[in-house]
Parts: sequence; C-alpha cells; structure tokens
Amino acid sequence: MQEYELAVLPGDGIGNEVMPEALRVLDVVGAKYGVRFGYRHFDWSCETYKSTGAMMPPDGLARLRDHDAILLGAVGWPGVPDHISLWGLLLPIRREFDQYVNLRPVRLLPGVTPPVRDKQPGDIDFWVVRENTEGEYSQLGGRQGEGTPTEMVLQTAAFTRRGTDRIMRYAFELARELGKPHVTSATKSNGIYHSMPYWDERFAAIAAEYPEITVDQDHIDILCARFVMSPERFDVVVASNLFGDILSDLGPGVTGTIGVAPSGNINPERTYPSTFEPVHGSAPDIAGKGIANPIGQIWSAAMMLDHLGLAEAGADVVAAIERVLADASAPRTPDLGGKATTEDLGRAIAEAVRG
Ligand code: NAI
Ligand code: MG
Repeated sequence: MQEYELAVLPGDGIGNEVMPEALRVLDVVGAKYGVRFGYRHFDWSCETYKSTGAMMPPDGLARLRDHDAILLGAVGWPGVPDHISLWGLLLPIRREFDQYVNLRPVRLLPGVTPPVRDKQPGDIDFWVVRENTEGEYSQLGGRQGEGTPTEMVLQTAAFTRRGTDRIMRYAFELARELGKPHVTSATKSNGIYHSMPYWDERFAAIAAEYPEITVDQDHIDILCARFVMSPERFDVVVASNLFGDILSDLGPGVTGTIGVAPSGNINPERTYPSTFEPVHGSAPDIAGKGIANPIGQIWSAAMMLDHLGLAEAGADVVAAIERVLADASAPRTPDLGGKATTEDLGRAIAEAVRG
C-alpha cells in the first residue's frame, strides 16, 4: 500500500472546522484507491503566537520539511496583526520551501449562482498561475527623512530571469498537460517602465518554446474587466506576485462563493513539500458555528492528490463535489443558500466519493 505522510495545520477559526472534513474525504478516497494517509497535526496558529510570541517554533520549518505535502486551513485572528500571522507562518513556508507557483482553478461549479449573469458551468473554467516568491512582494526598499516634509519611501520590485522564466514555463506546461490551448499574460508594460517590459520579453521568449499554444497579453486593468465581462476567453493566466494575488481572488469571486475556492503553493521540483489551502481565511464572523463551507478545503486536498501523482483520486473528489452541488436535495451550507452544517456537507461529499 502506498503511504503518504501529511503535515496538517488547521490554523485559526474555521480552519479547525473545515480541516476534519478534508481528512474525512481523504480517508475515503484513500481506502478506495489503496492509499494510506498519515496525518501529523500541528496546532500552530495565532494562539501559538499569543502564548509563545511566535507563530511557530524556531525549528518549525525543519519539522515540516520531511512530509509529502502540507495541508493548511487558514491563519489569522483578531488581536494578532495580519502581517504578523502572514510573515510568521505562511510566507516563510512559501519562500523557504521555494513554492514559487501559486495555482488556483477558477471554475463555475454546478448549483452555485455566480454574481455575473447568464453563465453556466463550463463557461468559466480556467487557471490562474501566480508567481509566489518574488516580484512586487519584496523587502527591498527603505525610508528616509522619517517624519519630515521630505519623507520618502521606496519599495522595489524584483524580477529575476530564473523566477520569471520558471513561472511562465509552468503556465505553458500546465496548459499543455490540461489540453488548454491558450495562455494569457497579465502585464502593465505601458505604465511600469522596467519590470513589465522585461516580463513581456520573457513571456515572448518562453511562448516561442510552445508553438502549439496561442498567447495574448492584457494589461492588468483591462484584464480585470475581462475576468468579469468575458471569463470564457481564458484557459491559463500567468501573472506576477501582486497581479496574480488580485486576479486569484477576483476569479473565484466571479464564480460565486469564496468558500469553495482551493489553491496550491507548489514547489514543482519536489525538493520541498507543497502546501494546499483554501483561498478563504479564518472567517471570525462565522467561526465556532459549524456552518463554514468545507469545499475549499476538500478541493485543496484534491489538488494535493493530483500533485502527489494520484490524479484519478483527485478527479474523483472534484467530481463528487460537483455531483453533490448539482443535487438540489443534498446538504448546502448557508453561503450556498442552505441550512446545512460543515459536517453535513463534508459527509455528503465523502459518501459521494465512496460511490
Ligand atoms: P475570510 O475569507 O476569512 O472571510 C471573508 C468572508 O467570507 C466572511 O464573511 C466569511 O464568513 C466568508 N467565508 C470565508 N470562508 C468561508 C467558508 N468556507 N464558508 C462560508 N463563508 C466563508 O477573509 P477575512 O475576513 O478578510 O480574513 C479573516 C482572517 O483570515 C484575517 O486574519 C486574514 O488575515 C486571514 N486570512 C488568511 C488567509 C490564509 O490563511 N491564507 C487568507 C485570507 C485571509
Ligand atoms: Mg490574496
């Protein structure tokens, strides 16, 4: 029997409510495909910060290192500034483990009413590939003349050839693998003088390696409008860290509830474990009520299966999610217009996987 050791970090708030449902589904799909998942639980969270002054122990990354993958819930809680929880746990994992791809499917699921009119499942079905380690999110820069009228702040964006080429190549490889014929690049080379013309130059160079894939590039402003007005046109969208961050929330926003959206922070070379987590946060407004939608967490686990080479099992889980959502008599959490609990929906999906 194949065995995988997973690091499980539920984090804060509803992370603790949706994680058990993902593990429930993993147990079922594992039994079905003859795979065993071992779970090592880590309770690192804002609670950890409040009691120890750090989001994780000093050897935290070393303790995660040897797992096959990391399954994360959500991190962040009122009382701990968000930049502390983010830079104390999520960003060190992404950067130290060179998880340079942030991958998010944008897919309109059956039974979900999107905020854009007249769209059916199939109309919105694409992937956002966000660069996850460099670009605009850097600590380069500084401040001078603090508190004076000449105060000045510099924030520098850094684009390396290695970083730019590898994210673009990942996007093209993904398009090839999924049989998607088109890659769109998010740019802003009309306004940003150095980095974005470079981004365009590298996009053209990498695109030339994939002659069967058609390409275009949109400035980020019109690209945002097109995500809403004509989402059908996209297959794979590749973007820098900042643009990708925005697009990868806008995409799921266009498809309905944020509670269903998954993501992967991927180290394609598999030198380090990759992290799979729902797009949503800890949702303090509904935490503790048992009504959070577990689909984002369950779908993230399905992306993890795919990454581990268990593509059939991953597709099985996604199909089960779609079947349950399409079934009007199946349980639905309040964000989907129903009255079901997190556990009701998680059990329904687990049963659908069992078949
Ligand atoms: P949020 O995603 O936690 O909540 C936004 C809204 O969506 C809330 O009304 C919430 O109830 C709803 N929502 C989110 N997930 C849901 C689900 N599964 N089912 C039903 N409804 C759901 O974002 P917010 O409020 O901006 O952030 C709360 C905390 O989470 C902050 O501390 C923030 O820093 C953190 N956060 C962490 C993320 C992560 O761990 N990757 C991502 C986003 C936010
Ligand atoms: Mg974001």
